[in-house]
This record gives sequence, structure tokens and C-alpha cells, in this order.
Amino acid sequence: MQKLIIKGNKELNGKIYISGSKNATLPILAASILGNQVQLKNIPLVKDIFTMVDLLNFIGLKTNFIKRKNIINILNIDKNINTLAPYKLVKTMRAGVLVLGPLLTKYGKAKVSLPGGCAIGTRPVDLHLFALKKLGAKIKIKDGYIFAEAKKGLIGSVIRFPSISVGATENALLAAVKAKGKTILKNCAIEPEIKDLIEFLKKLGVKITSKGRTITIIESGFKNSKIVHEIIFDRIELGTYMIACALLAKKKMKIERINPRIVKSEIDILKKIGVKIIKSKSAVTIKRNKKLKKINVTTKPYPGFPTDLQAQLMVLLTQVNGVSKIKENIFENRFMHVPELKRMGAQIEIKNKTAIIKGPTKLTGAEVMATDLRASVSLVLAGLVAENRTIINRIYHLDRGYEFLEDKLKSCKAEIKRI
Ligand code: UD1
Repeated sequence: MQKLIIKGNKELNGKIYISGSKNATLPILAASILGNQVQLKNIPLVKDIFTMVDLLNFIGLKTNFIKRKNIINILNIDKNINTLAPYKLVKTMRAGVLVLGPLLTKYGKAKVSLPGGCAIGTRPVDLHLFALKKLGAKIKIKDGYIFAEAKKGLIGSVIRFPSISVGATENALLAAVKAKGKTILKNCAIEPEIKDLIEFLKKLGVKITSKGRTITIIESGFKNSKIVHEIIFDRIELGTYMIACALLAKKKMKIERINPRIVKSEIDILKKIGVKIIKSKSAVTIKRNKKLKKINVTTKPYPGFPTDLQAQLMVLLTQVNGVSKIKENIFENRFMHVPELKRMGAQIEIKNKTAIIKGPTKLTGAEVMATDLRASVSLVLAGLVAENRTIINRIYHLDRGYEFLEDKLKSCKAEIKRI
């Protein structure tokens, strides 16, 4: 099994560019089922994307992935379509469940494996199914699979989500695009990745408007022509590298190919802590500030501070003066990095949903274990700050979502290698 070895406490110096967003690419790949000919650009080369492409191939789409250009061409000739998403492809990547909406709305039926639990919590799909039922789908759960049917097609409806879910908003949106009449989705997630999905669907010919947390979809014809779409940047990768720079960039470092307006809450919080950040149109410049201040943060749906940056922020907070708190409001079990960070010397206590972090503490290298994608990258950040050598096990989690992680860090003088 592969491991990462990091020799820490080294200054970072250089430039980093941000890749395309994994979480935007996944629903847009699922949405490609709805089109005929699609070209997607700025695709990150990470494991979850490869799994989703395998799933599209399994369903019967033809894909041509030009990896050296981060481009994928997808063709759907509507022949020999398999309306099935098998367990083996959904178990490692929950987003596989996003093919449910497009398959059901286009082909009238779908059989999709239940994604099951995962390390950060139970992560049910009840809200996805709630919305599909409201659109007229008949749904049964049997043998670990969701069986959905809408023989005469889906029917537009007004749906208010009882709580905000990114995946359920995406699945409902993907199903509603071919429903008869008008669908109004209320209390939606409005993450930038959902905005990107809406842009893609508009290119396909769908009439969609969004205002606040309400998205309206009007029955519309689909275009047969080729659609070209460039995926937005990965705001979580950006946040991760901003934190790396805040910890270790003695001189100014530039992070490029982004839009700072999309990460306002992250930048505001880092600035409040005392990190020096200068924004430009498509980049940020960051420098470490030794006098960092404590802060209290709660994770929230967008535009709030993202749960996907909670673990990384926690590493930064081990280096600030005073006692900081992070309340995890989205997932019930997302503090699994804490015992590992404590093994490296961090002083963190968990009380219910809140982590209380005492700083500043000197971190020292240790052998640690990655548990999920974002927890893993927090251990990389901790390893970069810590004195001596850190060994990170189970790094396959990192490969699910960070493109060229070691190369990007090495280009900024980090001492990191995979064995
Ligand atoms: C997406 C992101 C993930 C991020 C999360 C929250 C992708 C591929 N993944 O995951 O990186 O951490 O948003 O920003 O985009 N819930 C239910 N019932 C449901 C669906 C969700 O109770 O049917 C709950 C979840 O357990 C969780 C909360 O709602 O507590 C939010 O989850 P959701 O927004 O759906 O996350 P994902 O779409 O799975």
C-alpha cells in the first residue's frame, strides 16, 4: 500500500495553480447522459472522476478521455443503454447516485445501488428520493438497490427540501429537466458547483432560472448539437492551498486560475485569523503572518464556511494564539482527523459537534492514518508544518480528489514523496 513521507517545517515558495472542481465535474458527467455530444474541459485527473467515467461507459455512453489535456468527449447515441448503476461503481464514490435523476427522466426507469454509509457519517439519500417521488416517480428499495420508475415520464411539481442537500438538489434538478410542465425547487443548495451544473444544463437547452435558494425549471427542448463546457475551479483545493501558504509561505505565494469572489467566506475567515491575502481577478497572493488570532467558525452550506475545509482549517488553528472553536454542522462524524492530529502534538478536545483547539502548539512528525479525503489532506498540511518526518498511510483517499498533490507541493519546495 502506498504511503506519503513528508519532511516538515520547510518554507513553501513558488506558485500553485488550481485544477477543475471534482464536485462540479461529477454531476455534470451524470448530466451528460441527457445530451448527445458533450465536450468537458478542465477535468481533474482524480480517482472519483475515473470511477464516474467507468459508470458512464457501463451505462452505454462512449467516452474519449484526453488526459494530457484534461478534456473528455462524451457521446450518447441512445442505443444499448443500461439503466443500471451497480454496487461496485457506487460503493467507492457516492456521487454515482447522481445518475438516478438523468436515467429516470430520459429512459423512464433506473436501478441504482444505494451508496451506503461512509466514514464521515450515515449520508442517506432520502432527500434525493423525496424529490423524485414528488416528480411522480415510483420508488422501491430492494436488495440494496433503488428501483425507480416513471413509465409515462416525470411531472413538474413544487418541491421544498426540508433541509439543504447538495446531492439531492442536483438529482432533483437533473430529473426535472425532462419533466412535463414547470418544476420549482425550494430550499436548494446553491454551491458554485450547482451553479456550474445549471450553466451546463442551459447549454443543453434547458430553461432554468435561480433566485436565492429557489430554482425554476421549465419544460424545454434539448439541443442536438455538440455542447462544450469548461468546469469551474476547485474551491476546496484552493482553500487547502491557501491554508498551506498561511502556514508556510514566508514570502508571498500566488495561487492562480481561480475566482476569489466565489470563496469570499473562506478568505474573510483567513483574514480575520490574520493571514495576509491580496485578491486579484483570477488569483490570490498569500503570505504567512506569525501573529495569528483565534477564531470561532461553524460549517454551513454555501455561502457559509464549507465542511470540506474544516479539517484543513483545524491544522491552521493549532498554530494560532489562543483557543479556537470549530462547530461541524453538516456531518455528524467528521472529526476523525482529530486523534491523528493529537498524535502529532495538537491540543484538541471534542465536545458534541464542536472541536476546541488550543494554540499555538508545536507539531511533530508521526506515522498517521488517512480516513477520508479531506481528513487526509489535513494530515498532509500537518506533516508540512511538523518538525521531522511524517508518514501518512492509506493515501488512496487523497487520490480520490486532489490532482497532482505531490507535484504541486514539490514545485513549491515541499519535501514530500510517495513510496
Ligand atoms: C456534497 C459534496 C461533499 C460535501 C457535501 C456538503 C459532492 C460530490 N460532494 O456531498 O464533498 O462535503 O456536499 O457540502 O459534491 N442528507 C440527508 N439526506 C439526503 C442527503 C443528505 O439527510 O438524502 C444530509 C447528509 O447526511 C448531510 C447533509 O444532508 O448531513 C448534507 O449532505 P449533502 O449536501 O447531501 O452532501 P453530498 O451531496 O453527499
